[in-house]
Amino acid sequence: MIILDGKKTSQEIRNEIADEVAALKEKGGKTPHLAVVLVGNNGASVTYVNAKLKDCEEVGFNTTMVKLSETISEKELLEEVHKLNKNKDIDGYIVQLPLPNHIDDQKVIMAIDPEKDVDGFHPQNLGKMALNLPTFLPATPMGIMDLLDRYNIETGGKHCVVVGRSHIVGLPASILMGRNHYPGNATVTLTHSRTTNLKELLKNADIIIAALGKPDFITEDMVKDGVVIIDVGTTRVVDKSKKSGYRLKGDVEFEGVSKKASYITPVPGGVGPMTRVSLLKNTLMAVRAK
Ligand code: GUN
Repeated sequence: MIILDGKKTSQEIRNEIADEVAALKEKGGKTPHLAVVLVGNNGASVTYVNAKLKDCEEVGFNTTMVKLSETISEKELLEEVHKLNKNKDIDGYIVQLPLPNHIDDQKVIMAIDPEKDVDGFHPQNLGKMALNLPTFLPATPMGIMDLLDRYNIETGGKHCVVVGRSHIVGLPASILMGRNHYPGNATVTLTHSRTTNLKELLKNADIIIAALGKPDFITEDMVKDGVVIIDVGTTRVVDKSKKSGYRLKGDVEFEGVSKKASYITPVPGGVGPMTRVSLLKNTLMAVRAK
């Protein structure tokens, strides 16, 4: 069994990005600039956003944080989005989700200039992704593809079962795994809460991408020998021994399943760090596209 080390792999990619940014600056090129819009004070969102900004600074990007009140109206938020669209110095930006309930996420995503949509959430970019055209890929699915690629894992002709159909992970991951492209060319089954024969499908899977958000949901008895496990789950569970008071748990019961797997991502240290580096890749791509 081989651990898919997202921490190490993401550091390799981060070093490559930092080298490219340094070379770009030396040639007098533009310093990549990412903006992050944060509405309100959701604890997890604040943590994610700070981590994203820190990553950018470490590779030499410029950053802007647009911090907005929880009570901002949808119209005012859309005005902020239009300002970022027009700001020539900003190469790409993201609006951290979830937004407060009185704001329509989709309306905001649709207002982002697709050429600055480094989250890859705009329908134009998701459409390009599905057609295998060059575009920004959503961060988590891109991180998964990079991990499979860097470990040279065979995906062609394999049966890949994706668990969970969220717009930011399961759905795009299923499209990418089915593309006529490496990593991809897999036979993909996209499963969700209405799937009636999940256990049977999992038992036949060569590759499992678990993104349902239920800790330890997939157990040893549900998988076959040699399976490749990509665990996207990061549920916070209470752990008094930790300074934070919690630890992260994946959707896969690691100890049992790792005995049967050929490759497996740990939680934490698997998909999470790869997701973070994808945003840097997309921001650099936005600069290159200019
Ligand atoms: N909330 C959770 N994940 C993400 C992400 O990748 N992008 C944005 N914008 N919000 C998120």
